Amino acid sequence: MAVIRVDIAQRPYEVRVGQGLLAEIGAECRGFLRKRAVPVITDANVHAAWGDIVEASLRAHGHEVHWRILPAGEQTKCWDELAATVNWLLSLEVERRDHVIALGGGVIGDLTGFCAAVLKRGCKFIQIPTTLLAQVDSSVGGKTAINTPAGKNLVGAFHQPSLVLADLAVLDTLPERERLAGYAEVVKYGLIDDADFFAWCEANGPAMLAGDGALREYAVAHSVAAKARIVAEDEFETTGKRALLNLGHTFGHALEAETGFSSQLLHGEGVALGMVLAARYSARLGHMSTASAERVARHIAEVGLRAEIAELGLTCDGAALVRHMLHDKKMDAGTLPFLLMQGIGKTYLDKQVDLSDVAPFLDSELARPIK
Ligand code: NAD
Ligand code: GLY
Repeated sequence: MAVIRVDIAQRPYEVRVGQGLLAEIGAECRGFLRKRAVPVITDANVHAAWGDIVEASLRAHGHEVHWRILPAGEQTKCWDELAATVNWLLSLEVERRDHVIALGGGVIGDLTGFCAAVLKRGCKFIQIPTTLLAQVDSSVGGKTAINTPAGKNLVGAFHQPSLVLADLAVLDTLPERERLAGYAEVVKYGLIDDADFFAWCEANGPAMLAGDGALREYAVAHSVAAKARIVAEDEFETTGKRALLNLGHTFGHALEAETGFSSQLLHGEGVALGMVLAARYSARLGHMSTASAERVARHIAEVGLRAEIAELGLTCDGAALVRHMLHDKKMDAGTLPFLLMQGIGKTYLDKQVDLSDVAPFLDSELARPIK
């Protein structure tokens, strides 16, 4: 097992990464669960695959599990589920020093974390991420949120978990498409500031995705360590350091918006395409070589992710995608900070990007022939 410490001032916590942690959840959570009753929030798919194992382990340690099993999918991160879940926690008489368990992907983690942030002005919670995306990104760092009709993740709070348990075994039941989408966030850490890790991904990504246990542990632990380092430096995204984690997200978010935040394009798939676009746009501005930008596109494509936006079959033009960017929550007094690259592993925040130049760039990408 790998243990990574997230060194947040006053509230450090551990992320434990290993095979079979769910079966040991009772022992792993010893010292965190004060009462017999333990509220566990999950979704229907995760409960079907892993509910019995969690229940058995917690029972073996004298706990009674109270399940809240929510519908799977992004629509669960909404006001109605927030209200209903907070009311459910209140009915269980959860107190501030009690822990609520989030067992699921980013949807369950974000919703549960936000419930914990507001319940009695803040109770404690444990993240048990069950998707690759949640293990390497959303369960670490304390961003919690729900979606509203105005957009995704527009209402939320920073609220750090007390513990994160990432069991690599859960990735066995994760649909391949979801695994690939999560892999985009792994590659992201290499592109941000770790060229060696990007090279590791090129050499080992396909075998890791195929299920090699040692490679999985390395990929998840290394990604978590990268995120922990960045979050510890800039917990509330004020210095620009944490903003680096948004690499690929501005382009990706515009694509997600154009496809209606539907299953046509998963979040991680949008990030993968967005990272290719960020690399190519950096090359267009002369900040990065075209060869390096195409190296990024090649790796994304070779693991089975889409690397060309032309593959999405969109009917819009580049200007329409730029219009989506104007609603990005990172808009700051009329400018949109962009994450661009000076090379692989050299991502930086650029506040000078001229959006009127981005539209023709996207036009050319939409028309790029698919290989
Ligand atoms: P998700 O939670 O919707 O899970 C994807 C699908 O996989 C769901 O159908 C789920 O039921 C299923 N699933 C989960 N674990 C499984 C398992 N082990 N076996 C079988 N099926 C399983 O999606 P996600 O990609 O994990 O998370 C996306 C969400 O995360 C978005 O809402 C996004 O905004 C959020 N997010 C948050 C942060 C953050 O820092 N808080 C960062 C990135 C993304
Ligand atoms: N996923 C981006 C962040 O946690 O800041």
